[in-house]
Amino acid sequence: MSEAVVQYQLVGDIGIIRIDNPPVNALSHAVRAGVMAALDQARTDNSKLLLIACAGRTFIAGADITEFGQTPREPGLPAVIAAIENFPKPVLAALHGTALGGGLEVALAAHYRCAVPGTRLGLPEVNLGLLPGAGGTQRLPRLVGVETALEMMISGTPVTAGRALELGLIDRLLEDGDVAEAAEAYARQLVADGAAVRPTGARVVAAPPTADFFDTYRAGIARKTRGLIAPGFIIELVEFACLHDIEQGQKLERERFVECRNSPQSAALRHVFFAERACAKLTNIPADTRALPVKTVAVIGAGTMGGGIAMCFANAGIPVTLVETSQENLDRGLGVVRSNYETSVGRGRYTRQQVDTILAGIRSTTDYADIAGVDLVIEAVFENMAVKQEVFRKLDATCKADCILATNTSYLDVNAIAAATGRPERVVGAHFFSPANVMKLLEVVRAEKTAPEVLLTFMQLAKTIGKIAVAVGVCHGFVGNRMLKGYARQAQLLLLEGASPEQVDAAMEAWGMAMGPLAVGDLAGLDIGYRSRRDQGIESRSVKESALADTLVEMERLGQKSGAGYYRYDPETRRRQPDPEVTALIADIAAQWHVDRRAIGDEEIVDRLTLALINEGAAILAEGIAARPGDVDIVYLNGYGFPKWRGGPMFHADSLGLETVIGKLQALRELTGDPCWEPAPLLLQLAGEGRTLASLKL
Ligand code: 3HC
Ligand code: NAI
Repeated sequence: MSEAVVQYQLVGDIGIIRIDNPPVNALSHAVRAGVMAALDQARTDNSKLLLIACAGRTFIAGADITEFGQTPREPGLPAVIAAIENFPKPVLAALHGTALGGGLEVALAAHYRCAVPGTRLGLPEVNLGLLPGAGGTQRLPRLVGVETALEMMISGTPVTAGRALELGLIDRLLEDGDVAEAAEAYARQLVADGAAVRPTGARVVAAPPTADFFDTYRAGIARKTRGLIAPGFIIELVEFACLHDIEQGQKLERERFVECRNSPQSAALRHVFFAERACAKLTNIPADTRALPVKTVAVIGAGTMGGGIAMCFANAGIPVTLVETSQENLDRGLGVVRSNYETSVGRGRYTRQQVDTILAGIRSTTDYADIAGVDLVIEAVFENMAVKQEVFRKLDATCKADCILATNTSYLDVNAIAAATGRPERVVGAHFFSPANVMKLLEVVRAEKTAPEVLLTFMQLAKTIGKIAVAVGVCHGFVGNRMLKGYARQAQLLLLEGASPEQVDAAMEAWGMAMGPLAVGDLAGLDIGYRSRRDQGIESRSVKESALADTLVEMERLGQKSGAGYYRYDPETRRRQPDPEVTALIADIAAQWHVDRRAIGDEEIVDRLTLALINEGAAILAEGIAARPGDVDIVYLNGYGFPKWRGGPMFHADSLGLETVIGKLQALRELTGDPCWEPAPLLLQLAGEGRTLASLKL
């Protein structure tokens, strides 16, 4: 097997190791063994220089992640890397595509590095809960200095080939074109110039810019890397590299790497990596389904969502037309879009010229006839069935027969919206999240009659516009908002039972949520839920768990936008502050509803909120609303600030153990009498069979 994935060939006096392990030339056992065998061959032949290159679309994209969690097999990557660095003849690595993780570490161990334009070089291990474990933490600072090395390893963001040249990370930026040819020419030149072996590990790390550099750096990233183990280790290892030789450095690095690799958070992040890729694959459509071309798009409604959705398409170079009921509404919507782009220019994300080009791709109209020829329409008008059905009737009458009609509804029945048209098979839900131009998540809702090619088209289109799409079925709130409901309800009950908003939020944030549930409510605006409850015919303050929110809205405390909600907000800093008025109000409402108040521990807060998510997630899976537990996780991770390093609610349930989850649910059921704690039948079934949620994977 190793012969197939790694080939060795002597071309003149250049020995060429060619790795060919699709799709991304990951460093599987066969590759490592193959490289070792090739090194042995090259050691004794007539080669004067060894060139390491890869076939296919990329240089090595890293260690083989599927091997983590299995018994390690020799040779390990550090041994291969050491053999490269200590090779008695000069070694040149030729990079193209992505040189990531273990792939870049191979290149760092080579004596010379070259790359074609467009190559990206990085150490993204941190995204998998890891640190570079094959010398990266020790060699990168030796080449580019401590500051850049830390920046690359802590952010995990790759640098371009051009930047790599500036940094001294590569020695030569090759001509654009065939990497093999250009690299061979460079190799011949190195031989002609008498290039010598040049081990990176023998270099000394340049001193950090200031004496307290590492402490300052540590403090600077603390907030952003909250909860993660690897970033702290990376800083420790770079600091260590300044004072110790490569051998000692690699020894410590290996220890820390193994600790990270065996940690629950790395297991969680690896799950996220594969779940993200799995959710893009539709399992329940015919294999020969083909996506339809989408070259032009229209968005109906230029409000909060419509404007953001239009930006997504415009950013991807797909012409988009915004449709509104009046010129005034269009002007207002376009004004917001323009000011968003102004901010991007201010922050250096886009140049003015880029923004001008993007904006030229956004047209606007009040006349539906102008969008008769588009390939796709996304409706983002008010969340009201009658209004939406009216819009869909109009679209059906106006748009060409094969035009796809999508709705951005948050809760409404997509089947009923589709039924307003004569082409329900062309109707699909496209639930973007706010702000739509920023949030990565997209729930693609498959209605009863949605055609497979329409679903597939949307899933692929999502990738084009930089979204992570998850296919979901029709139900109230789809996956994310449906799960949110039980979670938010528990937060309200906890307040009435004795917790304060700041305690609930702090407990959830300490557990890892990006933002606690009440702070999220204030950010989104309490009026949204208020309106939705009224639309559903629920009278104000008639329900225990929404009495507080209803009262706050009626006091004009709508959240951040009105300066107060569950908290009071500093007008300058927007920082939240506990508000005694809210404390008193909660106590009043609790008394009205005869709720006994008590001291509540943080553990109970975390348990109740996370168990609510888990139980609803299991029901969603049982109903087939989501196809895989990983799909539920991806929704919650990308739309609701669930900590990535906990893998998502379903992965978290498996980590706790389904027996434990059920035990906790049953205890709550007994204690509170609340039927919401009845364990989902799927959990009982899986636990009974000694299985996990992950075992449901397709
Ligand atoms: N190991 C195993 N499989 C991998 C892999 C890896 N390192 N990287 C990608 N794959 C698989 C993916 O799972 C996917 O499989 P599928 O087709 O069955 O779903 C396939 O390769 C293609 O991947 P993508 O869909 O992600 O393809 P893209 O072209 O969009 O992206 C990429 C390519 C930029 C290389 C991206 O896959 C990526 O970021 N990969 C991970 C890179 C990484 O994290 N490397 C570090 C690994 S840890 C390490 O090296 C430890 C070391 O320090 C000891
Ligand atoms: P919004 O009130 O900000 O915008 C709606 C816009 O639609 C208004 O500008 C209105 O003038 C326009 N409009 C109404 N009827 C129209 C018609 N017949 N033709 C053309 N334009 C029309 O509302 P928002 O927040 O953008 O919500 C839109 C949809 O997106 C709703 O279905 C909502 O549930 C959903 N959604 C909202 C999210 C949010 O956080 N705001 C998140 C995800 C989905």
